[in-house]
Amino acid sequence: MIKIKPLVLLFGGIMGLVACQTKEEIKHQTYLHDGVEKYKLHCANCHQEDGKGLAGLYPPLANSDYLKKNKASIICAIKHGQADTIVVNGKKYYQPMPANPKLEGLDIAEITTYIYNKWGDETVITDIKTVEKALGECEGIKK
Ligand code: HEC
Repeated sequence: MIKIKPLVLLFGGIMGLVACQTKEEIKHQTYLHDGVEKYKLHCANCHQEDGKGLAGLYPPLANSDYLKKNKASIICAIKHGQADTIVVNGKKYYQPMPANPKLEGLDIAEITTYIYNKWGDETVITDIKTVEKALGECEGIKK
């Protein structure tokens, strides 16, 4: 019995780890799956399904230097819209991006995960906590 116990513990530990990773992986897949659907619904009209945007009017997300550097303010723009002049890959854009007041933290987390996995060189989830933190900060500034 004394010899078996550590083996059982080891086995249990490994199974626990595998189960845990799988759960995280399933969550990631769900985020990507729902994220692409929500992207098509709320974003692709302007930025296009392939992320290339629309010449001069709507900036590209694919290969965008701006996307890679401004996650928090992009999360804020998805919820509250944006009407600044921004420079994406050396080109100026100044059309307004509309707000999506009905999108919840989870929706924004899934969309953000999708666009950063697809076009931002990321392989991780942007979780609801990150979204809420970014929204909290930008809403603080806007007040
Ligand atoms: C009506 C067209 C329109 C829709 C719909 C729209 N955007 Fe935008 N988006 C814009 C415009 C215009 C800008 C530039 C805003 C500025 O100049 O301040 C922009 C900027 C951006 C940027 C930063 C610039 C870049 O290309 O990296 C990101 C990222 C982005 N949008 C993502 C999204 C996402 C995600 C959605 C869906 C939730 C969305 N947009 C919906 C028009 C749109």
